[in-house]
Amino acid sequence: MSAPAADDLIEASSVIVCCGSGGVGKTTTAAVLGLEAARRGRRAVVVTIDPARRLADALGLVDGLASEPQRIELDDSTGELWAMMLDTAATFDGIVRANAENDEQVDRILDNAFYRNIAGALSGTQEYMAAEMLHALHADDRFDLVVVDTPPSRNALDFLDAPGVLSRFLDHRLFKLLMLPARSGLKVIGTATQPILRAVGRVVGSDVLADSVAFFQAFAGMETGFRERADDVIALIRAPETSFVVVASARHDTIAEAVWFVDQLVEQGIDVTAAIVNRAHPAFGEGSADDALDASVDAAAAGAPGLAALWRNVADLRTLRERELAVIDPLAKVAGDERVVVLPLLDRDVHDLDGLRTIAAHLFDHPIVER
Ligand SMILES: Nc1ncnc2c1ncn2[C@@H]1O[C@H](COP(=O)(O)OP(=O)(O)O)[C@@H](O)[C@H]1O
Ligand SMILES: [Mg+2]
Repeated sequence: MSAPAADDLIEASSVIVCCGSGGVGKTTTAAVLGLEAARRGRRAVVVTIDPARRLADALGLVDGLASEPQRIELDDSTGELWAMMLDTAATFDGIVRANAENDEQVDRILDNAFYRNIAGALSGTQEYMAAEMLHALHADDRFDLVVVDTPPSRNALDFLDAPGVLSRFLDHRLFKLLMLPARSGLKVIGTATQPILRAVGRVVGSDVLADSVAFFQAFAGMETGFRERADDVIALIRAPETSFVVVASARHDTIAEAVWFVDQLVEQGIDVTAAIVNRAHPAFGEGSADDALDASVDAAAAGAPGLAALWRNVADLRTLRERELAVIDPLAKVAGDERVVVLPLLDRDVHDLDGLRTIAAHLFDHPIVER
């Protein structure tokens, strides 16, 4: 288990997508990758969707992060580090503005009650907007590496699927039905004349239905733009310059989830560049737990009970480490041994650049420089 996989990530990608279940250290990893890329002279931007402000916290920014890229001051880097927190609703508004045929259409959509309610809340919107922002930052001349900290969703695949889901929705029968009156030039849809809409109206309420129908009608003419953009986003996610990092901790449940995710990626023809196992217990010197037990027996026989007790402690800690490494095995099998990097559990939380530098030193095998 070594660091070349991590070097590969930083040198060869222009997009890095960090995936993994919640709480494993995904946001921390994203920040570490951005920081290391900047140290190596790249202009990196890290984007997070985590509403808990963890990225701001990890970077030691007390004022939080804006929804625009913000430069982070570094004194040890030839490159640049930028960071931002995605604002789902504002990103959605931006896409509407970019695709609308005129200002009147923009106003009609942005003022629509259904739109205002779904823009941030609809399931999948957050994932789609994250993918959309990824695309926008990738096209931005200020940056040559975009690191995405994917949303803390139930399912890590949601992020990958979101553009396809949007594309399929635009092709869906229900969407076409809702768009029909707009296409045929009718002003008002006769909800009562459509049995399916009448049924929907009874469930969600006729106001909601009227708002949503008005929304889809206001949407007319923009489907092509949305569909093309979704296709561009899908292409970028699958491009060879885009790397995937899966983050897990040395526990059965998060390893199982990481294995499942790597399998899904492979099924789609995508390789994982690195699998990071975070917060493993450190190795406590050379040798195995059994070696430590032998040393303990020897110490006891030599009449040094204190030393014997210390060696028993070392044996316990090494046993913990050995169990953790065994837990990692299934992930090493699917991702490839050479792609797995194990990071130690630090004795404190990571909430400033020094904390990130300590993790970077382990991840990239360079000396720890605390400043
Ligand atoms: N190697 C580590 N050692 C100690 N604490 C860590 C380590 N990695 C992450 N943490 C801490 O664990 C918590 C969760 O990390 P975070 O990156 O926010 O996870 P995620 O984004 O996957 O939810 C944070 O409080 C962070 O400081
Ligand atoms: Mg996070």
